[in-house]
Amino acid sequence: MGVDTPQVGIFALGTASHAWLELDLVAGVDPVAAVARVAAMREPRTTIGGVNLVAGFRPELWAHVAPDAAPAGVHGFEAPIDGPTGIHMPATQHDVVLWLTGAAYDVVFDLSRAAVVALAGVARLAHEMVGWPYHRDLDLTGFIDGTENPTIIEATDAAVIPSGTPGAGGSVLLLQQWEHDAIAWERLPIAEQESIIGRRKADSTEIDPSPPGSHVASTDQDRFGTILRRNIPYGTLSQHGTVFVGFCREQGPLETMLRSMAGLSGTPADRLTDMTHAVTGSYYVIPAADRLARVSATTDGEGARLTT
Ligand code: HEM
Repeated sequence: MGVDTPQVGIFALGTASHAWLELDLVAGVDPVAAVARVAAMREPRTTIGGVNLVAGFRPELWAHVAPDAAPAGVHGFEAPIDGPTGIHMPATQHDVVLWLTGAAYDVVFDLSRAAVVALAGVARLAHEMVGWPYHRDLDLTGFIDGTENPTIIEATDAAVIPSGTPGAGGSVLLLQQWEHDAIAWERLPIAEQESIIGRRKADSTEIDPSPPGSHVASTDQDRFGTILRRNIPYGTLSQHGTVFVGFCREQGPLETMLRSMAGLSGTPADRLTDMTHAVTGSYYVIPAADRLARVSATTDGEGARLTT
C-alpha cells in the first residue's frame, strides 16, 4: 500500500447492497484503543462475493488519535441547520461510521454483524441504514441521481485530500438520511417535479436556466465546488428515502450546499425539501487506508478478521 492511498471502497461502483452503520464509543473507553480496533478490522480477502469496507470517524475523534493526519478545521455536525422558511436539518453526530457494500445483502448482513461483534466493548451500534439501488441509477424521486458527479478519473481530485496537505489521502464525508414523502411526490405532475429538481425526469437533461429554488440551483457545483455523491435509496414502503452520501476533499462545499438548500445563502430554499426531510446528519473523516492501518499497527496490531 502506497502513502496517502484512499480507502478504495469510496470508489467501488456496481455494488447492489449497502449497509451504513453509525456507532458511538462506549463511555470511558480509550479513544485510541477504539480507533485501533476499527482500524484492525479486515474484510475477507476474496475477489468474488467480497464486501468493501470503508471506515471513518467523528472528525474530533480522528484528530485526537492521529493529530498529524487530521484535515485542518474539519468538525462534526454539531448543531442543526434551521432555515428561514422552516427547513430543519438535525445534527445526529456519531463517533464511527462503517460503510459495507457487496453484491447482495446476505454477505453485507453477515459482515455487518461480524463488525458489530468485533467492536463490542469499544463501540455500540447507534444507527443503521440498508440501501439498495433503484432501477440502476434512480433515486426514489424517479430521477437519475449522480448525473453531475465527477467522472471516476476526476473523482479522486474532488473527493480526496491532496498529497502534502494534512489528512492527505483522506476524505470528508457528509452522511444524511433523507426521508421522502413518495405519495405526495408522485401526485405532482412530472413538469412540476422537473422544475423542483431542475432536470428532465426521462433523461436528466438540465433545464436552462435552472428554476429558482430547484435542487440543482441550490447545490450548483460551479458555485460551491465539486463533490462525489454515492447516494443510495433505503427503506421499506412505509419509511424510505435517500441516504445522502457526499465525499469531498474539504468540508466547505458540503456545508455551504446544506446552508443553501435551507435558504441561508441569499437564494430561495431548495423546493426538494417540501417532499423530503433530513432525519440524521453527521460528518466523518475517512482516513487514508495506509494511515488508518498504522493506528492498528502502533497499538495492539492484532486484527479481528471479519469472517462469517
Ligand atoms: C433527498 C435528498 C436528495 C435527493 C433525492 C437528491 C437528488 C438529486 C438529483 C436527482 C440531482 C440531479 C442529477 C445529478 O446531477 O445528480 C441532484 C443533484 C445534485 N445534488 Fe442532490 N439530492 C439530495 C440531497 C442532496 C444534498 C443534501 C446535497 C448536498 C449537501 C446534494 C448535492 C447535489 C449536487 C452537488 C448536485 C449536482 C448539482 C449540479 O448540477 O452541479 N443533494 N441531486
